[in-house]
Amino acid sequence: MVLIKYKKELTEHLSFTEKKKSIGLVPTMGALHSGHTALVQRAAHENEVVVVSIFVNPTQFNNKKDLEKYPQTLKNDMDLLEKISKDILVFAPTVKEMYSNKVKSENYNFDGLENVMEGAFREGHFDGVGTIVEILLNSVKPDKAYFGEKDFQQLQIIRKLVEMRNIPVKIIGCPIVRESNGLALSSRNERLSHTVRNEAAFIFKTLTSAQRIFGTESAKNVKDWVTKQFKKHPDFELEYIEITEAATLKPIIRKQKNRKYRAFISAYADGVRLIDNIALN
Ligand code: PAJ
Repeated sequence: MVLIKYKKELTEHLSFTEKKKSIGLVPTMGALHSGHTALVQRAAHENEVVVVSIFVNPTQFNNKKDLEKYPQTLKNDMDLLEKISKDILVFAPTVKEMYSNKVKSENYNFDGLENVMEGAFREGHFDGVGTIVEILLNSVKPDKAYFGEKDFQQLQIIRKLVEMRNIPVKIIGCPIVRESNGLALSSRNERLSHTVRNEAAFIFKTLTSAQRIFGTESAKNVKDWVTKQFKKHPDFELEYIEITEAATLKPIIRKQKNRKYRAFISAYADGVRLIDNIALN
């Protein structure tokens, strides 16, 4: 395993040692779990060189406490990655290395993708994500970069970023990895009590029911139904349920057969914010 801390070292390594090889990049904030390693495995399958970045990006946290609480587990992460391949390059820079003395985001306009759902509830979040992903893509210059559908809005925003900035990379979206009860894997699940973690299967169950109901009902009726399910469940507080067109994240005016739709939920359980989403057709 090669652990790299500096952008210059990374660029040199990639342009000399790994010259002319196809590169896959998996950006992460560490505290790796099977959701992340699924992306790494796919990248290892499709590329000659895999770079996994591990960087807790301060500019994408609107809540300072969330940033402070973010787990940092580099040693464990390296062990987990080593099991996939000993050849993975781990890029784990400091904040100073990524931002110099100006820990600030760019101001992006992602065609409105950034103003709904996570963007509406986490001010400045996608400016922070865009800033760090742009720096990473420009430093690593990968052929392909891998992102999870767990953060579907983030995935669409990165597709838009790459299109806007003409970055020559293929963005690969990967399916959500779930616990056996259906709860989407997240480092935040560790903060749930044992009971609530088991109960949290309720979120995915509600999404799969929403998917079924959407076959015959309007988006509004499905949203109302989901809201009602959450009101009945004392341990979960719904922040939002949205049903949108998958590519544009715009609300549905009228369902059309040739369009793809998706449902998105954010909810609090045990004071922990959980997000999930599902394809509706
Ligand atoms: P992080 O939350 O560490 O996630 C890294 C990648 O893993 C993201 O693409 C995310 O969608 C994916 N991922 C997380 N849990 C998943 C799951 N259960 N199934 C499938 N994929 C999953 O997302 C970020 O970091 C940051 O915003 C980042 C893109 C690294 C920029 O800082």
